[in-house]
Amino acid sequence: MSTHIAAAKGQIAEGILLPGDPLRAKFIAENYLEKPERFNEVRNMFGYTGLYKGRRVSVMGTGMGMPSHSIYVNELIREYGCKRLVRVGTCGSLRAEIKVRDLIIAISASTDSAVNKVRFRGMDYASAPSFRLLKAAYDAAVAAKLPVSVGKVVSSDSFYTEDPDQWKLWARFGVIGVEMETAELYTLAAKYDVEALSILTVSDHLVTREETTAAEREKSFGAMVEVGLAAALAE
Ligand code: HPA
Repeated sequence: MSTHIAAAKGQIAEGILLPGDPLRAKFIAENYLEKPERFNEVRNMFGYTGLYKGRRVSVMGTGMGMPSHSIYVNELIREYGCKRLVRVGTCGSLRAEIKVRDLIIAISASTDSAVNKVRFRGMDYASAPSFRLLKAAYDAAVAAKLPVSVGKVVSSDSFYTEDPDQWKLWARFGVIGVEMETAELYTLAAKYDVEALSILTVSDHLVTREETTAAEREKSFGAMVEVGLAAALAE
């Protein structure tokens, strides 16, 4: 039992998928894992461990935004020994050619959050994923013929920004997607010398304003889960 997770030591696998939504964690456990066992329901932040292709893997929700994500990732690494943490989330696309339902694998995460400004005493940290996990995910996506882009994302503290054109500055500097968690995931993984990756389905489009329906999100989400499992179980 850690402060926010009710699992016993040993109940959580070294490889774990991290959707923001706890009901996505439940969906993944029920549809992709054999013999899933729930290890957490504190705050309804469901977490499960089961088998995928005979190998132990976990999945747990982390909520929205870096403060919530950070709490769970800290405890998963420090209290439960997680070693391969793979976010499976959604993002907004900042590039016309990257369409809704496409996959983005985050090769870096900038942020407008103060969290790393405080942590690094005003200096900037370039948060980046595990190349090993990135390669495993990219290879799986290509093998499955999924539309996938590997590129820079920005992790924002605000879904509803004061300036609706805020994203254009990031886009000008080569950022292709906006979401709310990856910078903290990558920074914590580096701090504790474990591996992390963010795989994101494009759920909305800042350039074209196109959005996905719930049914479409469900379908592309399934493809992302398979790619995420390839990374979480990377040998
Ligand atoms: N902004 C921030 N986070 C997001 C978005 C967005 O447009 N889409 C999915 N997560």
